[in-house]
Amino acid sequence: MVKRTTSAINFEDAATREQLLPECRLQPGDLWHDPEGRHVVGCGDATDRQFVESIFNSRRATLSLHDPPYNMVSFQRRPIAEYIDWCRRWVDLSWGMMAEDGSFYVWLGADQKNHFQPLPQFMAMMATTDFQSRSFVTLRNQRGYGTQKNWMAVRQELLYYTKGEPPFDVQYTDIPKILRGYYKDVGGERTENMQRSRSNNIRPGNVWVDTQQVFYRLEENVNGCYAQKPLKAIERVIMASSKESDIVADFFSHSGTTLLACERLRRRCVTFDIDPIYAEITIRRLEYYRQTGKTGWQMEDVFGAEACELTDRVTAEST
Ligand SMILES: C[S@@+](CC[C@H](N)C(=O)[O-])C[C@H]1O[C@@H](n2cnc3c(N)ncnc32)[C@H](O)[C@@H]1O
Repeated sequence: MVKRTTSAINFEDAATREQLLPECRLQPGDLWHDPEGRHVVGCGDATDRQFVESIFNSRRATLSLHDPPYNMVSFQRRPIAEYIDWCRRWVDLSWGMMAEDGSFYVWLGADQKNHFQPLPQFMAMMATTDFQSRSFVTLRNQRGYGTQKNWMAVRQELLYYTKGEPPFDVQYTDIPKILRGYYKDVGGERTENMQRSRSNNIRPGNVWVDTQQVFYRLEENVNGCYAQKPLKAIERVIMASSKESDIVADFFSHSGTTLLACERLRRRCVTFDIDPIYAEITIRRLEYYRQTGKTGWQMEDVFGAEACELTDRVTAEST
């Protein structure tokens, strides 16, 4: 049963976890094979070679799209050298699970109170791999923090690398072009930019201002998944860097956004999370989409009434 709650569920809370873990289909090491034969979801560690090899089997990804914990506010915080060593392990494993020609994207944060870690260290580490750097995309969030004594922090970083020579399909936003007068001679004729263009809309370029960050009023919101990425941004990456039926990999599934985007765009997803609760949410989000056509639960609860009642009770007790 799905129930509406006014509170955000906290899946890190010990009592909530104790109640929900028995409802999770996957335990560490387990795999869920999509009954429709398209995707695989697992519960496992991105640095565990045996697990990663088992979930991929003989499949190889054309696109790897990873969103690890940023070593900042959420999840575990560790010394930067340790964090980068950890990243190197899953980056190497991901390389091994990719096709000869593949695209590799990583979402990352930069802690402005701590010399912007881990972004520069991660970039330096990537320079020692065989990946080729391609682009440094910034998403502009609509809401930020630190507005009074600093520049409002609204950015979200996305790094793009390649292995071999993967194709890239140019994407367009929904924003119409309004500027004219960018003249160029083509075949002896003077043309302006509107005539030469393949679309009446502008391209996103490497600064994306048109992807609304996920918040509780959006249908795609998954209550309790505070690190969720916008479906539109993930779909843009998938459309640019893969074709129908290609394998797309995501080692940090959380709310299952990459899986859902693959379902909508007819790609095949191989994804997993170390936490059985997020692995379960990933599966449920796909099932819910197939049943209802909805991209998320907005403020309704993924696990039904129990978690809502628990959350409402914990919230009431703490206020
Ligand atoms: C930033 S979130 C990913 C958000 C996701 N892109 C989305 O849109 O919902 C990171 C996820 O990585 C998971 N995680 C942390 N360490 C992991 C590891 N060693 N292996 C696999 N998953 C891990 C966390 O449980 C968390 O759900």
